[in-house]
Amino acid sequence: MIDKSILQKALADEYCVPAFNFTNFQIFKAIITTCEKLKSPVVLQLSEGALKNFGDNFVQCFLPVIKSTSVPCVLHLDHGKSFDSIKRAIDLGFDSVMIDGSCLPLKDNIELTKLVCEYAHKKNVIVEGELGMIKGDDDNANFGGSAYTNPNDAKQFVKETKVDSLAVAMGTNHGMQKYISEPKLRFDILEDIQNEIPNIPLVLHGASLIQKKYVDIINKNGGKIEKALGNDKMFVGLHKTHICKVNMDTDLRLAYTAGIREYLASNLDAIDPRDYDKNANKYLEEVIADRIINICHSDNKY
Ligand code: G3H
Ligand code: 13P
Ligand code: ZN
Repeated sequence: MIDKSILQKALADEYCVPAFNFTNFQIFKAIITTCEKLKSPVVLQLSEGALKNFGDNFVQCFLPVIKSTSVPCVLHLDHGKSFDSIKRAIDLGFDSVMIDGSCLPLKDNIELTKLVCEYAHKKNVIVEGELGMIKGDDDNANFGGSAYTNPNDAKQFVKETKVDSLAVAMGTNHGMQKYISEPKLRFDILEDIQNEIPNIPLVLHGASLIQKKYVDIINKNGGKIEKALGNDKMFVGLHKTHICKVNMDTDLRLAYTAGIREYLASNLDAIDPRDYDKNANKYLEEVIADRIINICHSDNKY
């Protein structure tokens, strides 16, 4: 079921919409099944890389399922980097797009995001912008300003671009290693941003927890993940803030890989993907349910 106002409802009712990336069909299925079971709205997102890997025709296969879910569900382009990439996603039937101009100087980011909003809004597609630097994928960015989102810039950005939601940098990072040393999230900056743009749903990227449980299962069963350092208990109370969309990808990759490695390590003759996918699904559903209930508080909302 498509409902493009899901973030506005989350803002009003104090919960977050989980936004899960998917990289294969098993993960897509686990997300939808768990969200329907727990009556949680959901954003299903594809990175440019994931979109390329599936291919346009195969991505369109997901749309009938997304449109027939019992809970609100939108297909979203994650970290779209160019106008062409946005246009391609909209032509394919995406309901929502992110234009990530965070590596650009403020003026250029505003210009690109404004162009995307003008195009997308005409087609009834919602737009997420980004200000500040969320490390990981953006590590090599030639970023001229502060790593954290500047609250005054946020006000100007929203006013000039007419963006529907804004990804903010408050200290989270993409990937498996969230912090080099001491974890530090700037909830003070988040509060200042909220005061400047009180009606705009905010988005938290890099929100995977990187739980030791799944890293340990992988490492016990032939894997070798050495630098994993997560957010763990840092998101308590997130649903009370204006963060309305919480982006998680790495946690699903960890859960899926843990399930597969565990099964294959003790079933040496296994060749049926349904068998090891079943074990991966157990961990996927466990992680998805945990984030819905304990981080997003988005269960039983529909
Ligand atoms: O924000 C980044 C996502 O985790 C996507 O990563 O480009 O490897 O698909 P990817
Ligand atoms: P993680 O790497 O923490 O899962 O972040 C994913 C993300 O922000 C996708 O846009
Ligand atoms: Zn991201």
